[in-house]
Amino acid sequence: MNVLVTGGTGYIGSLTSVQLLGAGLRPVLLDNLCNSKAAVLERIERVAGVRPRFIDGDIRDRALLDRVLREEGIDSVIHFAGLKAVGESVEMPLAYYDNNVNGTLVLLQALREARVRTLVFSSSATVYGDAQVMPLREDAPTSATNPYGRSKLMVEQILADLAASDPSWSLTALRYFNPVGAHPSGLMGEDPQGIPNNLMPYIAQVAVGRREKLRVFGNDYPTPDGTGVRDYIHVLDLADGHLAALRHGHGRPGLHVFNLGTGQGHSVLEMLQAFGRACGKTLAHEIASRRPGDVASCWADPAHAESTLGWRARRSLDEMCADTWRWQSMNPEGYPG
Ligand code: NAD
Ligand code: UFG
Repeated sequence: MNVLVTGGTGYIGSLTSVQLLGAGLRPVLLDNLCNSKAAVLERIERVAGVRPRFIDGDIRDRALLDRVLREEGIDSVIHFAGLKAVGESVEMPLAYYDNNVNGTLVLLQALREARVRTLVFSSSATVYGDAQVMPLREDAPTSATNPYGRSKLMVEQILADLAASDPSWSLTALRYFNPVGAHPSGLMGEDPQGIPNNLMPYIAQVAVGRREKLRVFGNDYPTPDGTGVRDYIHVLDLADGHLAALRHGHGRPGLHVFNLGTGQGHSVLEMLQAFGRACGKTLAHEIASRRPGDVASCWADPAHAESTLGWRARRSLDEMCADTWRWQSMNPEGYPG
């Protein structure tokens, strides 16, 4: 099976491509490299033993998509490509709607023409907005507080309308909780450009000496230790969730929505301690004010994915930290180039 992987050189796309190769599928990676490096291809080859086909291009380039779908004999798509920084989305909403919403529309139009009808989309737990009831089930109300979140909600709505309009489509939205971790080889992991927005890469850079200390955004939340609680999931568990969703989606029309999380919440301070255990250091931190837009707690009810896809997250918090530390210490500056 030939699987088009948009955003395939990015963090989650590259590790999902490794798992696809391991399962005997043929990923075809399409990425414009706006937030990733081509050097990851060599790492995929080292880890998986095969260098995947890579196309340097943009999902908004319809002529390119038409050619790739035809020439590569694409059967299905995993659609990771998009912009993902919440703060940046507030400053540059048009760039976010263009990449995330318009880019998805161009892709869906090309798929319709090419009669490719199976797609798995990277959605996010951000679509639950400022939910009060935990754990989050897929039928919880959705809302958005920023353009990034709205772009994910808009795409989910487009997918729902498309599935309702034509029963030949099988469309799956995977709502990721907080993906962290790296390949256990230490060869592949998250490589944020500039100052990391997210907790785990920031802690990893403190551990490796690139940053002085973690700023903990608020310790007055209604959580056990006052710091924010999230559902961190190992990126390889997340990648395996895509394989399960792809297999489930084939031949099953409609829109399918699944949470991909562990069902367990951990606080910022718990994460700092767990990472300290993995790297054998005490990591400096200070308490700072809350980050605007953050929710106190967010964790999944993963039961629907388990009962329907036969998938559940298996890797522990200690593995998430150990694998991130191996990647960060072996590649202090991320991928070369
Ligand atoms: P990433 O930035 O590492 O990967 C996204 C890739 O898409 C990058 O390689 C980038 O160069 C590429 N890209 C962006 N716009 C493109 C375009 N127009 N055409 C072609 N390529 C383009 O991010 P990631 O963490 O791997 O996230 C993948 C997907 O998962 C994104 O859609 C993101 O919104 C979603 N998601 C991520 C998280 C997270 O915490 N990492 C959480 C929820 C959802
Ligand atoms: N945090 C800090 N200091 C930091 C960074 C983060 O204390 O330097 C705290 C945050 O306040 C929060 C927790 O660590 O309590 C996790 O923050 P992240 O930025 O790592 O993750 P978020 O849950 O805020 O958001 C992430 C993605 C979003 C996505 C969401 C749900 O960034 O794009 O998960 O999938 F929508």
